Amino acid sequence: MRVLGIETSCDETGVAVYDTALPGSAGLRAHAVYSQIALHAEYGGVVPELASRDHVRKLLPLIRQTLAEADLKLEDLDGVAYTAGPGLVGALLVGAGVARSLAWALEVPAVGVHHMEGHLLAPLMEDDPPAAPFVALLVSGGHTQLVAVDEIGSYRLLGETLDDAAGEAFDKTAKVMGLPYPGGPQLAALAETGRPGVYKFSRPMTDRPGLDFSFSGLKTQVMLAWRNSDQSDATRADIARGFEDAVVDTLAIKCHRALDAAGSNTLVVAGGVGANKRLRAKLHDIAGKRGGRASFPRPALCTDNGAMIAFAGALRLQAGQSETAAVKVTPRWDMATLPVVGGHQDQPLP
Ligand code: KG4
Ligand code: ZN
Repeated sequence: MRVLGIETSCDETGVAVYDTALPGSAGLRAHAVYSQIALHAEYGGVVPELASRDHVRKLLPLIRQTLAEADLKLEDLDGVAYTAGPGLVGALLVGAGVARSLAWALEVPAVGVHHMEGHLLAPLMEDDPPAAPFVALLVSGGHTQLVAVDEIGSYRLLGETLDDAAGEAFDKTAKVMGLPYPGGPQLAALAETGRPGVYKFSRPMTDRPGLDFSFSGLKTQVMLAWRNSDQSDATRADIARGFEDAVVDTLAIKCHRALDAAGSNTLVVAGGVGANKRLRAKLHDIAGKRGGRASFPRPALCTDNGAMIAFAGALRLQAGQSETAAVKVTPRWDMATLPVVGGHQDQPLP
């Protein structure tokens, strides 16, 4: 089954084709992402209306480009998957409108995918994928969640952030130190040259039991440290390293606890912060020491992309799940309400 995936939930237009007939990573026939970062940079954050308009401009050319790269024609598609939520309503509607219209014209089924389920399943697109049950750490710009995955489609929230998401904390901390939006990846690059231990920040909420997170206090600690420093490039790098170590340690401690709680040694990590090198190394280490393993998507598939939507959609379409032609999105959507893939459909898809 060849499925076109469309992602437009925020500031990246992503398109991909996933072919379930091909094994592992070969199934990803082509994928392309157009990032709107430059468009929003001067505002210091995503402007929803500008995001929607840019998806309108970029989506159709990106679909043509992706099909050409996959050496496929529209008529070769067997299904269409699109992000139906959570996300910005206008941006979601662009993807949903195009996906539904295309599916209707081609007379193929279409399915609305949960963006976070897309992230969560992305590591399963790689070769030698982990099998459920496992624990997933979802770390993006909007979410930080630990999820027990009993089977594909059956998600139990174990813990989540009470304030800022991990990616948001990276972005806000970078902004405090004068790095341009979105600063997360730049802060991580800067941390590479910083010295460990020069600045020591707290590991929030690790001194008490539980699997929730809180990252907003860290940004304040960094702000105070930065203001009271000589504000040199070397100091910026040392603070970046101290901040990154604090976030990575905190995530690692909670992952360890979550694996204990779920009785598992298999960890799956996804979302933009999953591209962070130090986080990847630390979580590989923890899972390895437990006799298990940690799985990540390749860095390009950690951040928003159409491949994860094509893949998650393909699993649901293969299981016979699709919806009527209505263009409907769900900007706020609890992943725990999703139906099990291949299971009985006692809960409707959106
Ligand atoms: O998953 P994603 O692309 O978008 C959302 O759904 O939110 O995640 C984007 C987030 C941003 O906050 C970005 O700063 C962060 O992921 N990010 C990183 C790295 N690459 C992206 N944070 C830390 N280290 C990185 N290497
Ligand atoms: Zn995302």
